[in-house]
Amino acid sequence: MNAPIADLRVDYRAGELELDDLASTWHEQLATWLGQAREAELPDPNAMVLATVDDEYRVTSRTVLAKDIDDRGVTFFTNYTSEKSHQLRQTRQASATFPWYGLQRQATVIGTVELLGKEETAEYWSGRPRTSQLGAWASPQSATVRDRQVLEDLYTTVESRFDGQDVPPPPHWGGWRLLPTHVEFWQGRTSRLHDRLRFRFNPARGDWVVERLAP
Ligand SMILES: Cc1cc2nc3c(=O)[nH]c(=O)nc-3n(C[C@H](O)[C@H](O)[C@H](O)COP(=O)(O)O)c2cc1C
Repeated sequence: MNAPIADLRVDYRAGELELDDLASTWHEQLATWLGQAREAELPDPNAMVLATVDDEYRVTSRTVLAKDIDDRGVTFFTNYTSEKSHQLRQTRQASATFPWYGLQRQATVIGTVELLGKEETAEYWSGRPRTSQLGAWASPQSATVRDRQVLEDLYTTVESRFDGQDVPPPPHWGGWRLLPTHVEFWQGRTSRLHDRLRFRFNPARGDWVVERLAP
């Protein structure tokens, strides 16, 4: 019999985060922590929990995989007719958290989104396995389906449609880029006095400031 979850407790001692440790830009810091998550062999190190909101303030969240990080933002790929894309088109607002629990860390990116250009989507698409390409054509992501057989049949249909040819990117599939205004790095510390350092874009000055937040 498991103890009640209310009794689950961890004293975080795996590391610390000081201003001197921080890279000079949010994207270098995010790339560094992602690299360390990979070296630590955490499962799905590039997975991030993406929260979106529609124009009636209804919030939803789910995991997606970050596929690129650069000074512009964090890129992920999905179905453009999905629930998340519907919300992103409505409000253009999103937040994504990388949950690196194995390192007693998380990083959270908050900002607005833009659609990736067709060329950028095509570049990423060409490196995907054929089975994933066919799956993207087959799945009406977020729609209700009667049963699994419906999906298997849709897959078989696209498999024969593209038999012997390259699979082009579907018009309903592609990338989004999350353009941050805030990026926070959280490192668990003992006595719940965790380290929280945040890069915040200062529109008046046109640059980024770094601030410590109370845990
Ligand atoms: C580890 C993991 C990685 C995932 N990566 C993606 C992804 O990169 N893109 C995507 O569309 N869905 C991904 N999913 C599935 C989503 O979490 C979600 O079920 C799907 O995108 C539909 O979300 P929506 O109906 O809220 O739009 C992933 C799920 C998991 C657990």
